[in-house]
Amino acid sequence: MTLTSSIAWLKRAQTEGFGMGAFNANTLEQMQAIAMAAEAEQAPVIIQISGNAAQHIGVGNRIVGLRLVAAMGRVVAETASVPVILHLDHGRESEVLQALALGFTSVMFDGSELPFEENIARTRELCETAHSMGAAFEAGFGEVGRAGVPGMEEGELTDPSRVAEFAARTMPDALAIAIGSVHALKRKEVSLDFALLDAIRAVVEAPLVLHGSSGVLDDSICEGIRRGLCKINVATQLNGAFTRSIREYLTAHPDDVDPRKYLGPAREAMMEQVRERMRMFGVSGRAA
Ligand code: G3H
Ligand code: ZN
Repeated sequence: MTLTSSIAWLKRAQTEGFGMGAFNANTLEQMQAIAMAAEAEQAPVIIQISGNAAQHIGVGNRIVGLRLVAAMGRVVAETASVPVILHLDHGRESEVLQALALGFTSVMFDGSELPFEENIARTRELCETAHSMGAAFEAGFGEVGRAGVPGMEEGELTDPSRVAEFAARTMPDALAIAIGSVHALKRKEVSLDFALLDAIRAVVEAPLVLHGSSGVLDDSICEGIRRGLCKINVATQLNGAFTRSIREYLTAHPDDVDPRKYLGPAREAMMEQVRERMRMFGVSGRAA
């Protein structure tokens, strides 16, 4: 299949009450792990690359990174029998434009650090650009904190009194909200703020997105999906499975030097973790 837009899938997730899994990749093996899991589960899938991951893949040049990812993503989708969406996660303005030009089928602009009016103006313009190219657009309102980054650990919950205006004036296909999760937690310890989720859901029509799901308790994620979360972002949990596998292999085989020996099992381990998340989100079998 060619790369697919996520617009119809997000609407379907909203109507039918399941969560589209959006899985972050930092390497070719991780992209493959996500696609292999989707194939095995017969699930539509969002493979997402953050601006920071593009910087790593492009050896410091984010645009080169995006070009490499676009090429790999195209082939990954073409060799899959299930719908694959290629999404730019947490993009800057220049990265959003470049990703669209390169054929990404979905982009996120993260303007959470901007003042309200400027965030609206930039978000709206980029949303229109994405739509003119047939791509889906994710906006964000509120700031999900980030563990381990001094000054960013706290974040800022989505303001329920302003979110309706933000959504109405930007018209995104999906809206990322901050309801208590924190990026990059290595253990599941956080519960979501359901009163806040309900308040947002009551005034926003766009499908809602959960960032930082790795640190959120599974019951809380499931309840969140029941209450209207439609796209669930997962990164740290997958990196954990991938890296644990490599650590175990190298501890058991300290003299091996062939990267295929440990990257192969790491890809399998991450695939299993993605499959488990897909089943939990209720997206397995939806592409069948
Ligand atoms: O944008 C990516 C996600 O929000 C992933 O967060 O690493 O806590 O799962 P996570
Ligand atoms: Zn995120």
